[in-house]
Amino acid sequence: MVFIEVLLANKAGFCYGVKRAIEMALQAARVKKANIYTLGPLIHNPQVVQDLARQGVKEINDLAEVTEGSIIIRSHGVGPQIFQQAGEKGLEIIDATCPFVARAQRAAHAMAEQGLPVFILGDPGHPEVQGILGWAMGMGVVIENADQLSRVDHPKVGVVAQTTQPLANYLKLVEALEKQGVEVDARNTICHATGERQRAALELAQKVDVMVVVGGKNSANTKKLARICQETGTPTYHVESAQELREEWFYGHRILGLTAGASTPDAIIEEVKRRMKDLDQMTNGEEGMNEAMEVKSPQPGELVKGVVVQ
Ligand code: F3S
Repeated sequence: MVFIEVLLANKAGFCYGVKRAIEMALQAARVKKANIYTLGPLIHNPQVVQDLARQGVKEINDLAEVTEGSIIIRSHGVGPQIFQQAGEKGLEIIDATCPFVARAQRAAHAMAEQGLPVFILGDPGHPEVQGILGWAMGMGVVIENADQLSRVDHPKVGVVAQTTQPLANYLKLVEALEKQGVEVDARNTICHATGERQRAALELAQKVDVMVVVGGKNSANTKKLARICQETGTPTYHVESAQELREEWFYGHRILGLTAGASTPDAIIEEVKRRMKDLDQMTNGEEGMNEAMEVKSPQPGELVKGVVVQ
């Protein structure tokens, strides 16, 4: 009998802002029971979104789709124009913008009010960045990294960052602006939750035989975690649920690692963990096959962790 272990990254799963948004949505469902909407999926996890829909919280893509009820603003936040439109339609607004995102919005707004151009460091297609851009009141410029910076004509500018940006990107942009002799009002609006999860995933992936990353396939932070784990050379699998796990992933392995994106509920993480243990016991517990795998040395030409044995 082989004793296997499934190790969970010491920071994994729901972050503060996502947990808060879900609690606000569930509370709204309990109290109001109908006509509750989110503009886009509340979080990037299809299972959670389906569960919320069953409880009466529906996803819409445009405010034009509703005429009454309550609209939940996601943790990513939105620009002021959405608040205005919702107000004009008489919709009740439940603002679940993560406080860390709101901090970046407020900073961008204050800089714009002082007449400063605002560099918003982030992914131009991400809703959080679009929301911050809205609060910059026409003074915002989205930039993905310092390499995209061209000559700045203003004596002073502001900088804010999408909450999930790597710190190094932010520091490089500030440095590049200062090198041009520009005065920079730089606000580090990066949230620690993402960095902590990435560091914990990296540390764990370096210690284990196989990594499983749980989270929505449309979740940028989950995909990033999977990439970080994969880059260590440890075989890594990105799944949304326990049903996607395949027993052959775990053949002959004893120490398995598990982490999860910021929009993955604890219940799904637990289910995946249980299933990993079950599958591994099934595959590694089989007499003979396991023994053979333990003693067998890699043969020339064989693939071991993606590397061909010479
Ligand atoms: Fe908020 Fe940070 Fe999560 S910004 S939504 S706590 S990743």
